[in-house]
Amino acid sequence: MKLRILVTAGDGIGPEVTGEAVAVLKEIATQGGHDFAFAEKRIGGDAIVQDGTPLPEDTLQAALSSDAVLLGAVGGNEFNSLPPDKRPEAGLLKIRAALGGFANLRPAFAFKELAVNSPLRPEIIDGADVLFVRELLGGLYFGQPRSWDKVAGRALNTMVYTRDEVARVAHIAFQLAQHRRRKLTSVDKANVLEVSQLWRATVNEVAAGFPDVTVEHQYVDAMAMHLMNRPRDFDVVLTENLFGDILSDESAVITGSLGMLPSATIGGKVNLYEPVHGSAPDIAGKGLANPMGAILTAALILRHSAGLEAEAAAIESAARKVLEQGFRTPDLARGNTQGLTVLSTKEMGAKVRETVKEQLLAVSR
Ligand code: NAI
Ligand code: MG
Repeated sequence: MKLRILVTAGDGIGPEVTGEAVAVLKEIATQGGHDFAFAEKRIGGDAIVQDGTPLPEDTLQAALSSDAVLLGAVGGNEFNSLPPDKRPEAGLLKIRAALGGFANLRPAFAFKELAVNSPLRPEIIDGADVLFVRELLGGLYFGQPRSWDKVAGRALNTMVYTRDEVARVAHIAFQLAQHRRRKLTSVDKANVLEVSQLWRATVNEVAAGFPDVTVEHQYVDAMAMHLMNRPRDFDVVLTENLFGDILSDESAVITGSLGMLPSATIGGKVNLYEPVHGSAPDIAGKGLANPMGAILTAALILRHSAGLEAEAAAIESAARKVLEQGFRTPDLARGNTQGLTVLSTKEMGAKVRETVKEQLLAVSR
């Protein structure tokens, strides 16, 4: 398997966590005889300082000619006074738009060992494994017209979807469900919104091509509650941009830590992979960052850009194993270190890497 991966590490803890993710990918390449080539380019505050823009042309071109982009995080307090289009985050929005991914995948899964970090009771979240598929390029966030008339005291946004926009993201969600537990929950507000009626009708049309996947529809308000009451009942959750933004953040409480969450944005020219967390300037450069979100993001690269499912699963089970053995970064220990071994970013990366290697060797034996 040959894969060209562009790493845009970005700011704050971005370089620390992506460094560990790349090291895991290199281990997998070595074990499996794969040819993974890595290039590095600047984005965000780092690029503002060195190139005068948050997304240099050079970075954009390298991204467009790679097979996958692994992004760390962007942002830093020293840039907070810049206008929105000059800030590090502008680079992120630009690269997302240029790569064109419309399906944002955010897994939310429970780790038994981290249940103490979740406000939900362990018996509710144990075994929960939900994959959010959020439509990322349509709906209220992009709909025209949009305006704020300050004199009249009136503001306007437009929620608009076309049948094609719904169908393409639904196809991806159904395909993902086929490789999981074959259940898809589509979330809308069809009791009130015409856009949601189109959404529901289109999802049902697409569903006809996937008879092996069970479909259910939920209203977004009820779904917000179901996710907290019975998260284990959901497999793939498909929804539009705004609802997905809210529900995927809500579901982060299942995992119990921001530092554990991966994401992928697929369906466009080049897939974009990033941990969910930001640049965490408060802990940057101290070896305190949890690299698991970035490492689990590397697993998504293998699954969605390389077709290396066994290797992706090996990373995920290694992450579990390391937690089972009591290893934690400080954010996961939360001051309660009894019976636990607290590791630095690099030590945690090395621990996961060793465990991945053992798993792959065990499989090939
Ligand atoms: P954040 O996610 O960077 O940090 C929130 C809190 O979680 C902090 O206390 C941080 O130390 C902790 N944290 C985050 N990731 C962690 C990890 N891997 N290990 C251990 N602890 C971790 O969000 P915040 O503070 O709101 O934003 C900081 C900067 O990051 C801002 O400039 C913001 O704009 C940017 N940001 C960038 C994102 C991206 O690049 N995708 C996403 C969110 C924020
Ligand atoms: Mg959000």
